[in-house]
Amino acid sequence: MKVAITGGKGNLGGYVAAAFRDRECQVFPFSHEYSRVEDPSILRKALDECQPDVVIHLAALTDLGLCEREKELAHLVNVVGTKNVSEQCAERKIPVVFVSTYYLYASNDGEPKQEDAVIEAEGLPNYYTTTKHEAEYFARQNDLHYIVRLGSLYGSGLEDKKIIGFICSKLRGNFETVHSRHHDIE
Ligand SMILES: NC(=O)c1ccc[n+]([C@@H]2O[C@H](COP(=O)([O-])OP(=O)(O)OC[C@H]3O[C@@H](n4cnc5c(N)ncnc54)[C@H](OP(=O)(O)O)[C@@H]3O)[C@@H](O)[C@H]2O)c1
Repeated sequence: MKVAITGGKGNLGGYVAAAFRDRECQVFPFSHEYSRVEDPSILRKALDECQPDVVIHLAALTDLGLCEREKELAHLVNVVGTKNVSEQCAERKIPVVFVSTYYLYASNDGEPKQEDAVIEAEGLPNYYTTTKHEAEYFARQNDLHYIVRLGSLYGSGLEDKKIIGFICSKLRGNFETVHSRHHDIE
């Protein structure tokens, strides 16, 4: 089986690529440069070249602070990028696995939610989550889709720049205060 992975050079992409290789799949981990998801012509060329049986769509702007500061860019990559991947894969009848976020369950009402609950855009905790909420809509336009709402990942050792890696690196070095929306962690 041929597996293309957008964002294939990212944190999760490396693990996903290795897992498919272990299962004797031919893996195409798309780099940012090779397939800018917001550019349909570049994406089309990449898909034409490798003709995958499935696409794992991981490419995204994942830095929460950057998404707040650069909303237009975050929308372009996370929403328009997902729309492009979804549409082009639908044309080719290629299933897409889209990776979203468990932050979608964190709306303001504070109530637990079932996976199939309708998630309203109002009250989502940050702009990154808003882009994932919109992107899910486009992912669903391809009949052959899977949406995975992941929690916070860790791994990649010292390369891990995400929240858990960040906290671990602080614990290894100077004890600084890590600020979050709800708590300070010292
Ligand atoms: N890590 C988590 O805790 C977590 C939790 C829930 C969901 N997710 C989702 O899981 C997916 C993978 O996350 P990750 O932790 O592996 O993130 P990551 O390390 O930031 O990887 C994202 C990848 O996307 C690439 N990318 C960025 N902009 C792009 C563009 N315009 N076109 C093509 N590629 C682009 C990046 O390349 P450059 O680095 O070269 O820009 C990077 O390789 C993301 O969709 C994320 O939202 C992650």
